[in-house]
Amino acid sequence: MGIWRDRVVPRAADFALDNREIRRFREEVVAGTSGEVVEVGFGSGLNLALYPPAVTKVLAVEPSAVATRLAAKRIGSARVPVEVVGLDAQQLPLETASADAAVSTFTLCTIPDPRRALEELLRVLRPGGTFHFLEHGLSPVPAVARWQRRLNPLQRRLAAGCHLDRQIDRIVEEAGFVLDEVRNDEMTGPLPLRPFGYLYIGTATKPGGAGRSIERRASHPETATSSPS
Ligand SMILES: C[S@@+](CC[C@H](N)C(=O)[O-])C[C@H]1O[C@@H](n2cnc3c(N)ncnc32)[C@H](O)[C@@H]1O
Repeated sequence: MGIWRDRVVPRAADFALDNREIRRFREEVVAGTSGEVVEVGFGSGLNLALYPPAVTKVLAVEPSAVATRLAAKRIGSARVPVEVVGLDAQQLPLETASADAAVSTFTLCTIPDPRRALEELLRVLRPGGTFHFLEHGLSPVPAVARWQRRLNPLQRRLAAGCHLDRQIDRIVEEAGFVLDEVRNDEMTGPLPLRPFGYLYIGTATKPGGAGRSIERRASHPETATSSPS
């Protein structure tokens, strides 16, 4: 699995996650970021061109050498400076309360201990700093969730540890973030792809700054993970 995991999967991710539909979700997620942003699972840098002008620096965390190589061209032509600061979101080599915002797109599915990674992000964010996420995860539709659990072992092997059945909003909240906004959506595609395409798109805040109320929305109301609060 070494060559598959190390060389094929990063290229497949760069290809599969670079389309117009996903780009729109990415734009939505990075839109509210500003200042110094930690991006975990930086991958091939597909978010980089989408950061708003208020972002002054991106601190990239990425274990894959191939993904970082694929990102080199995007880093070279980016408006915003990028510093690759580490290899593992579960152990960030950054000062406590040093970052303004954090971003994770399609990464919490793969990190072995996502709770630990989120606790690290909570540590390095300043109070009131925000975490912006675009992730796939557990569907609230029982039949889809059953398939997600069935396919999980295969998915983990084929996609370098990716889990289909993580309930992202719950993990973010359990790590200590305050959820500001979470909406769910589904990627378009044929029925067999439903287990792969249930999305959690949202922002959460590190407590200590000004409070905000929680808003939950679903573009597909029948598949919302929770009712409006
Ligand atoms: C599906 S790819 C997504 C890449 C990128 N975030 C995007 O949206 O295109 C998942 C990424 O998470 C990275 N990753 C895996 N384990 C990680 C860890 N412990 N810390 C940080 N990133 C990790 C992988 O190397 C890979 O680049």
